[in-house]
Amino acid sequence: MLIPVNIESRFDDVTALWSPKVIGRVNDQYVKIARLQGEFVWHAHEDEDELFLVVRGSMRIQLEDGEVTLRPGEFVVVPRGVRHNPVAAEECWVMLIETVTTKHTGDVTTGRTRSIEEQLGEAPTRPAESA
Ligand code: NI
Repeated sequence: MLIPVNIESRFDDVTALWSPKVIGRVNDQYVKIARLQGEFVWHAHEDEDELFLVVRGSMRIQLEDGEVTLRPGEFVVVPRGVRHNPVAAEECWVMLIETVTTKHTGDVTTGRTRSIEEQLGEAPTRPAESA
Protein backbone atom coordinates (compact mmCIF):
# COMPACT_ATOMS: atom_id res chain seq x y z
CA MET A 1 0.00 0.00 0.00
CA LEU A 2 1.49 3.31 -1.04
CA ILE A 3 0.89 6.22 1.29
CA PRO A 4 1.26 9.79 -0.02
CA VAL A 5 3.90 11.88 1.68
CA ASN A 6 2.85 15.42 2.52
CA ILE A 7 6.08 17.36 2.38
CA GLU A 8 4.98 20.27 4.58
CA SER A 9 3.68 17.92 7.27
CA ARG A 10 7.01 16.14 7.44
CA PHE A 11 8.60 19.38 8.62
CA ASP A 12 6.82 18.78 11.97
CA ASP A 13 9.60 16.26 12.67
CA VAL A 14 12.40 18.69 11.81
CA THR A 15 13.32 21.12 14.56
CA ALA A 16 17.06 21.69 14.26
CA LEU A 17 18.34 24.05 11.61
CA TRP A 18 20.73 22.73 8.93
CA SER A 19 20.00 19.14 9.90
CA PRO A 20 18.55 17.28 6.90
CA LYS A 21 16.07 14.45 7.41
CA VAL A 22 15.58 11.66 4.90
CA ILE A 23 11.89 11.34 3.96
CA GLY A 24 12.21 9.01 0.99
CA ARG A 25 14.49 7.16 -1.34
CA VAL A 26 14.32 6.79 -5.12
CA ASN A 27 16.84 4.26 -6.40
CA ASP A 28 20.19 5.65 -5.29
CA GLN A 29 18.87 9.09 -4.38
CA TYR A 30 17.59 10.27 -1.01
CA VAL A 31 14.76 12.77 -0.75
CA LYS A 32 15.52 15.00 2.24
CA ILE A 33 13.99 18.02 3.93
CA ALA A 34 15.73 20.68 5.99
CA ARG A 35 15.12 23.97 7.73
CA LEU A 36 17.73 26.58 6.91
CA GLN A 37 18.49 29.96 8.43
CA GLY A 38 21.69 31.94 8.20
CA GLU A 39 24.71 30.89 6.20
CA PHE A 40 25.87 27.31 5.73
CA VAL A 41 29.42 26.58 4.56
CA TRP A 42 31.18 26.73 1.20
CA HIS A 43 31.58 23.20 -0.16
CA ALA A 44 31.39 21.05 -3.28
CA HIS A 45 30.33 17.49 -4.08
CA GLU A 46 32.97 16.21 -6.43
CA ASP A 47 30.97 13.42 -8.04
CA GLU A 48 27.33 14.26 -7.31
CA ASP A 49 24.73 16.76 -8.46
CA GLU A 50 22.43 18.15 -5.74
CA LEU A 51 18.86 19.43 -6.06
CA PHE A 52 17.44 22.24 -3.89
CA LEU A 53 13.66 22.86 -4.00
CA VAL A 54 12.20 25.60 -1.82
CA VAL A 55 8.97 24.64 -0.05
CA ARG A 56 8.53 27.72 2.14
CA GLY A 57 10.44 31.00 2.42
CA SER A 58 13.31 31.82 0.14
CA MET A 59 17.02 31.15 -0.03
CA ARG A 60 20.07 32.03 -2.03
CA ILE A 61 22.75 29.70 -3.24
CA GLN A 62 26.05 31.52 -3.53
CA LEU A 63 28.23 30.27 -6.36
CA GLU A 64 31.72 31.29 -7.32
CA ASP A 65 30.38 33.18 -10.35
CA GLY A 66 27.29 34.70 -8.71
CA GLU A 67 24.25 33.50 -6.86
CA VAL A 68 20.76 32.17 -7.49
CA THR A 69 17.62 33.00 -5.49
CA LEU A 70 14.95 30.35 -4.98
CA ARG A 71 11.35 30.96 -3.98
CA PRO A 72 8.61 28.43 -3.12
CA GLY A 73 8.09 25.94 -5.93
CA GLU A 74 11.45 26.70 -7.54
CA PHE A 75 14.45 24.40 -7.73
CA VAL A 76 17.95 24.28 -9.06
CA VAL A 77 20.40 21.46 -9.53
CA VAL A 78 23.92 22.36 -8.43
CA PRO A 79 26.18 20.39 -10.76
CA ARG A 80 28.87 18.14 -9.35
CA GLY A 81 32.11 19.87 -8.58
CA VAL A 82 30.55 23.35 -8.32
CA ARG A 83 31.36 25.12 -5.05
CA HIS A 84 28.25 26.50 -3.39
CA ASN A 85 27.06 28.03 -0.13
CA PRO A 86 23.37 28.04 0.85
CA VAL A 87 22.18 31.21 2.64
CA ALA A 88 18.75 32.02 4.06
CA ALA A 89 18.10 35.43 5.61
CA GLU A 90 14.97 34.08 7.28
CA GLU A 91 13.93 30.51 7.97
CA CYS A 92 13.53 28.57 4.76
CA TRP A 93 12.15 25.06 4.22
CA VAL A 94 13.82 23.08 1.48
CA MET A 95 13.58 19.66 -0.10
CA LEU A 96 16.83 18.14 -1.32
CA ILE A 97 17.56 15.27 -3.66
CA GLU A 98 21.00 13.85 -3.03
CA THR A 99 22.78 10.66 -3.98
CA VAL A 100 22.88 8.29 -1.01
CA THR A 101 26.66 8.65 -0.82
CA THR A 102 26.57 12.47 -0.78
CA LYS A 103 27.86 14.20 2.33
CA HIS A 104 25.65 17.25 2.81
CA THR A 105 28.63 19.42 3.70
CA GLY A 106 30.52 18.00 0.74
CA ASP A 107 34.28 18.13 0.94
CA VAL A 108 34.37 19.92 4.31
CA THR A 109 33.48 18.80 7.82
CA THR A 110 32.08 21.36 10.25
CA GLY A 111 30.06 21.49 13.44
CA ARG A 112 27.04 21.30 11.16
CA THR A 113 28.02 18.08 9.46
CA ARG A 114 25.41 15.42 10.21
CA SER A 115 25.95 11.70 9.73
CA ILE A 116 23.62 9.77 7.47
CA GLU A 117 22.38 7.95 10.60
CA GLU A 118 21.29 11.31 12.02
CA GLN A 119 19.66 12.21 8.71
CA LEU A 120 17.82 8.88 8.68
CA GLY A 121 16.59 9.42 12.24
CA GLU A 122 18.64 6.46 13.47
CA ALA A 123 20.70 8.67 15.77
CA PRO A 124 19.60 11.61 17.92
CA THR A 125 19.74 15.00 16.28
CA ARG A 126 22.14 17.46 17.80
CA PRO A 127 21.26 21.14 17.91
CA ALA A 128 22.64 23.35 15.20
CA GLU A 129 26.12 24.63 15.81
CA SER A 130 27.79 27.49 14.07
CA ALA A 131 29.97 26.59 11.12
NI1 NI B 1 25.87 20.90 -1.22
